[in-house]
Order: sequence, then C-alpha cells, then structure tokens
Amino acid sequence: MKILHVAAECFPWLKTGGLADVIGALPTAQRVQGMDARILLPGFPAIRAGLLDAKRVAVVPPHFVASECVLWQGKLPDGTPVYVIDAPSLFDRPGNPYADGDQRPYPDNYRRFALLGWVAVQLAAGQLGGWRPDVLHAHDWHAGLAAAYLKHAALLRGSKLAASVFTVHNLAYQGLFPGDVFGELSLPGNFFQYDGLEFHGQLAFIKSGLQFSDRIATVSPTYAREIQSAEHGCGLDGLLRYRVAHLTGILNGVDAASWNPAADPALPGHFDVEKTVGKARCKACLQKELGLACAPNALLFGVVSRLTEQKGLNLVLAGMQKLLAQGGQLVVLGSGEPALEAGFKQMEQDHPGSVVVRLGFEEPLSHRIFAGADVIMVPSRFEPCGLTQMYGMRYGALPLARRTGGLADTVVDCSLENLADGTACGFVFERFEQPDFDAAVQRAFVLYAKPPIWREVRRHAMGRQFDWAAPAQAYLALYRAAHK
Ligand code: ADP
Ligand code: GLC
Repeated sequence: MKILHVAAECFPWLKTGGLADVIGALPTAQRVQGMDARILLPGFPAIRAGLLDAKRVAVVPPHFVASECVLWQGKLPDGTPVYVIDAPSLFDRPGNPYADGDQRPYPDNYRRFALLGWVAVQLAAGQLGGWRPDVLHAHDWHAGLAAAYLKHAALLRGSKLAASVFTVHNLAYQGLFPGDVFGELSLPGNFFQYDGLEFHGQLAFIKSGLQFSDRIATVSPTYAREIQSAEHGCGLDGLLRYRVAHLTGILNGVDAASWNPAADPALPGHFDVEKTVGKARCKACLQKELGLACAPNALLFGVVSRLTEQKGLNLVLAGMQKLLAQGGQLVVLGSGEPALEAGFKQMEQDHPGSVVVRLGFEEPLSHRIFAGADVIMVPSRFEPCGLTQMYGMRYGALPLARRTGGLADTVVDCSLENLADGTACGFVFERFEQPDFDAAVQRAFVLYAKPPIWREVRRHAMGRQFDWAAPAQAYLALYRAAHK
C-alpha cells in the first residue's frame, strides 16, 4: 500500500502543536509495518533547511497560484521519504506556517494551501515523477483541498486516481476565506455549494475534506462521537452525522523514539517504570533550573500547552490560590492568547519561587517539565486527542484532565474503585466548572500524601502502551475500506 500524507507541519522540522508529532511518527510506524508511506509538505524555510539528501524531482507545471514551483524529494532523519513544494513566493516567509510574526494570518493562505492539495493530486496523477500513491491521506484544513482536486480529476477522467482519507485533528480550525476567492482555485463552480466547499457564504477548506474524502478519521473515538453533536460540531455536526458511516475515531500514539525517559537527551536524569530515582533528580534539576524552591516534597504541577481558549487554562488561573495554599508549585510553558499570557505572568510575579511561567516554544524544556513534574494539567474544554497527557504518563507525571475527547479515552481517574482494580492513572473531572477542577486538584494532594499508592498509580501510568503500531493498523483498515 502506497500512502501520501499531506500536511503543513512535521516534527522535528516545524511544529506548532500535536499535528507535527503525528506527521513525524505515523508514516514511520506505517513503514515499519511494510507500507510505503511518504509525506508531502509545503516548502517553509525550516522544512527546506531540514530536508536530508534533497534532490529535485520535477518542475511543477505552471498553474493557478505560484509562478515558480519545484518539487523536491528528501527524507526525515529516520529515513521516511518526504516531498517538499518549493514555491518561494508562497512559502518562503518568516513567522509560523499560518501567520506572520505578529500572528496575523497571511491573507493569501487560501492560495498557499490550495497549492498543497493540488500538488498532492498531481503526484497521484503521475505528473511529478514515477511514484504514485494508492491513498492520499490529508490532515486538517491545510490539506483539505486535496480531496476536492482528487474528486474533480476523477470526474474528468471517469475513474478514481487514488483513494482519499481525511483526518480531522481539530474541527475548530476550518480554513475559512471569503467566498469570492473560490474563483481562483481552479475548481468548477458547482463545487462551491452547500454540499461542497461553501459554508454560510464563505469558503471552508475543511469542508472539502469532510465532503469529498472516501473516509474521514479523527484522532480519538470519543471526539468522533462528540463532533456529531451541536456542542462540539462547530457548525459541521450535520455533515458529520450525514457521513457517520464513513467516520471513525483512531487514537493517536506516542513516538517512543522521541519520548523515552530512559534515554531522552534533554533530561538530566534517566528513569523507567522499574527504576524511578532519575525522576527525583529531574524534579530537583527542574526546580533549580527554573528558580522554584528546591522542595522535593512539594507537589509540582506542570502545563505544556498552546495558551488558547480550547485548553481551559482559565481554570488553572482561578484555582491557583488553593493549589499554592497547600504547598503546590506550578510551571507553565506555553504561548498564545495575550490575556492568558498576562494572567500567568502576573501569577508568577505574585508567587516567586512557587510559580514559573515560560512564554515561548521550547521542545527540550517541555521534555524536562514532563520528567520533573508530578502532575501534568490538561483541563481542556475540548480535546480531539491530546498528546501531553500521554507524554506525562510515560514520564511519570500523572495527568489531571477533563473528561472530553481523547482525554476521556486515555486518562482513568483515581476513584476508589479504579485504585482498587489497578486502572487509575490520573485525575479526571467531568464538568468544565471551577469546583470540579478544584476537587481534582484536591484529589491529587490527597493521593500524594499516600506515597505507596502514588507510586503504584505512577507505575501503572508509566507502563501504559500508547505506541503507534495499533493506530497504524487501524489506518490500514481504513485505507482498504476507502479503496472499495
Ligand atoms: P495541540 O495539538 O492541540 O496543541 P497536543 O497535546 O496534541 O495539543 O500537542 C501539543 C504538542 O505541542 C505536544 O508535543 C506538546 O508537548 C507541544 N507543546 C505545546 N506547547 C509547547 C511549548 N510552549 N513548548 C514546547 N512544546 C509545546
Ligand atoms: C490537534 C488537537 C489535539 C491533537 C493533535 C494531534 O492539534 O488539538 O488534541 O492531539 O491535533 O492529533
């Protein structure tokens, strides 16, 4: 089976969130299982700079958006083949993949990401070198247009070029643009209808993936159910209910090569489920590195997160006093909305030695936080999958999470019955309400006061298997279904 993953980010080159971790790991896991999985990415500066053994594959024929465009092929450090679209007028820009240095989305994003979908289909048509995928697997709205171009090509030829699968990593990001730019996309007018890319008069890239793909996946079984409801459907729940027979939830995995506390080069001490002394060292070093009080017995809470509405971090801000009153400490690594950044910075100023807030994106520090923290907080309003709760478990930081999306599918609360049957691995709260969050924090303190039980729960959390082998198999089944 030949698979082309189409996406906007990829670890280790360019990462703004969990999408990059998935693109850096799932194709590799598929290759281990014998599939020929490859990746197509836009030629952002960090991607072009990282691409190993790069060689030119083809000059992309002149088309609707970029005058100059060359397709390169190279590989990831682990050998996975990667195609990169070098179109400097569209991709050679500062800032993150989607926005400039001031966080303003680039106004021509519809062209930049239309090109990504279009090149994917040119590859599938054999127009760009000899390799042709059996399946186009597009991720999130950035790659969504691949499905529309594939459908259009099939209509013109009278037969399918490749099967298509679309994974929704986050339904809240929809790729919305004014309707009048549709004319630039080189698609027939009837694709801009309610059963196409039109969404309340606008153009929605995500709708292309949802309407035209043979199969739709999302990143956890619970989120697959939630997005069919008005509460979590972001206006697309009707369409998702309509396509329910072709919609499935496949939980993400953890890349064991990047996330292994026994060998992680970012850590000052190493540990595993059998030998945990290295974790105490990681905690002490983290406290020292960040300027927290060096208190081995203070319950240390960590947050590694985009600071956005989705992540529910206003509960952490409002619950802070109670946490600190019990001798807890907090470290936050994140960046995002100015109000949340300011709120956490204020908290740090008010509580020196107990609260440390690092604004920015620092991969190695994130590893040290998972390793040094006792609890990792993920109180999201919604969470399609969530990776940080799984990284926390591997690194012996028990997740404190809201029961939603992938958090509901991965974190088991320390209730008495779950403690009794050995399934407990974190602290789960139900409603997005302050008292529920505060009670979960309280349960963490109560358990921490009973070290033998704490150690047992941590042992179970660290031993949980979240590898990519099972998701890779589940996607294979989906590709086979998409081919029919
Ligand atoms: P999302 O994709 O919604 O942001 P996930 O939990 O799936 O949430 O993935 C987030 C990824 O980004 C994880 O790898 C997490 O460690 C990482 N991350 C988030 N914020 C930061 C940060 N400020 N510095 C370093 N890594 C971060
Ligand atoms: C999105 C979601 C997150 C998920 C990640 C990878 O960014 O917000 O929950 O883990 O994609 O699938």
